[in-house]
Amino acid sequence: MCDVRCAGSWKLEAGTEGVNVKSYRVAVIAGDGIGREVIPVGIDVIQKAATGSCALEFVEFPWGCEFYRRHRRMMDVDGLETLQGFDAIYLGAIGDPAVPDHVSVWELILPIRQRFDQYVNLRPMRLLPGVRSPLAGRAPADIDMICVRENSEGEYSGVGGRLHAGTQHEVAEQTSVFTRRGVERIAKFGFELASRRPRKLLASATKSNAMQHTMVLWDEALEAVAKEYGSVSWRKYHVDALAARMITDPASLDVIVASNLFGDILTDLGAAVSGSLGVAPGANINPERAYPSMFEPIHGSAPDIAGKGIANPIGAIWAGALMLDHLGATTAHDRMVSAIERVLAEDGPRTPDLGGRATTKEVASAILQTL
Ligand code: IPM
Ligand code: MG
Repeated sequence: MCDVRCAGSWKLEAGTEGVNVKSYRVAVIAGDGIGREVIPVGIDVIQKAATGSCALEFVEFPWGCEFYRRHRRMMDVDGLETLQGFDAIYLGAIGDPAVPDHVSVWELILPIRQRFDQYVNLRPMRLLPGVRSPLAGRAPADIDMICVRENSEGEYSGVGGRLHAGTQHEVAEQTSVFTRRGVERIAKFGFELASRRPRKLLASATKSNAMQHTMVLWDEALEAVAKEYGSVSWRKYHVDALAARMITDPASLDVIVASNLFGDILTDLGAAVSGSLGVAPGANINPERAYPSMFEPIHGSAPDIAGKGIANPIGAIWAGALMLDHLGATTAHDRMVSAIERVLAEDGPRTPDLGGRATTKEVASAILQTL
């Protein structure tokens, strides 16, 4: 349930006579490509699921690569200040072949994650009933992992530069920044989560054999935090071995704690073994709730299928469920996830990435009806 730290004001929602429900303002950045196709249907499903639990006001911002083409920037000058006034951010996808990816990403997604101290990137990787994994012979019980990815520093610190650009002597440097505070807080979140899950297992992704500074600090911080969580069995794996284990023995994995880049790679792998990148959601969370958190499907803007109306909306819908959970509407979250599971398990419509022929809208309306 929602605790006292939740933002949002009390108000009476129309139609739920006598029941006080909280109301929240959500900033929507559908962004580019299929982001614009999955976010509108995601909003419909969220609105229906939230009825009776909380009242949501969605405010859309036209930011992204098309905005960039007109204004030479990805969002308004005071975009971050504007977003700060919201309770949550619902993001589609960013990226267009016409704008270099490092520009679009560093003017929108990464500044939001960093400025709003969304230091947890939470990514469930589950094989849902009715979905086929590319791994032979795996059932849903074999693939139920969740990645707790560090999301504010590490390899994505942005520190570095280029020297003698364009000459034969050109040098580029990209510095990883790991702080003890940064590693300890992500480790704590991971152990806390593992201690509340049935299997209570935690795997830490390291590479301290080769990276003797950053990753040795990572290991030391994990070891220190682990001492506070006696109920959790944990082990560290070098990230290469962990990637292999996700393929050969995913059933042995539960919570995975990883640095920013390692988590990025492992979660695409985890989404792929769970059947499709189109299904996987992500939550960029500021656990202290000092700033809005951001919820997005983990797939990108997919220019190759954009405009065809066949993008899988499930990643965006599941991300919306994570948003409701974060806002305290746990029941609404659970209803959304069950609706997704039922549509998939009962042979409902599915988009081409899952081997079907249905459109984005058909899948979303099947989920809406099941709600
Ligand atoms: C993700 C994406 C981003 C990341 C890109 C767009 C910068 O791949 O959310 O996983 O690497 O974090
Ligand atoms: Mg990624």
